[in-house]
Amino acid sequence: MHAFHPSPGMSKPALYAELLSAADALTAGESDGVANMANVAALLWEMLPDVNWTGFYRMVDGGLVLGPFAGRPACIRIPLGQGVCGTAAASGQTQLVADVHTFPGHIACDAASASELVVPVLRHGAVVAVIDCDSPILARFDAEDAAGIEALAALLSSRI
Ligand code: SME
Repeated sequence: MHAFHPSPGMSKPALYAELLSAADALTAGESDGVANMANVAALLWEMLPDVNWTGFYRMVDGGLVLGPFAGRPACIRIPLGQGVCGTAAASGQTQLVADVHTFPGHIACDAASASELVVPVLRHGAVVAVIDCDSPILARFDAEDAAGIEALAALLSSRI
């Protein structure tokens, strides 16, 4: 339906501005949260260089459950407070992990993952999901990536 690709040499703020406007166009006016998460997972996969997993975990009955994603099959349920995703969900804080092997309790779904960025999606102050991006490259994500995915999480707050 759509092809979204970053232009070569594009700065991260420019890439995230494009990603946000594409996510807005894909989800505006669609009330089905699963469809919106599926399209955004695919969009992240297409637009972010050097990632091996992009997707969502949803808060269900006080724990995280796998949602739409792109990449290899992953762990289905993550208790709050466990791993990078469970820590983001429990704290409501973005987790930027340069080397997942040094993160206590990291859950290795794909042995290729080396760094990870997890951003909570908040609705009325409560965590309803997390956006998880994994990379096979150490320290792949920085503060500009965190700011970009946080803006995406804010956009999706009432759309997933
Ligand atoms: N590594 C994550 C688990 C989810 S997968 O990476 C898809 C974690 O520690 O929470």
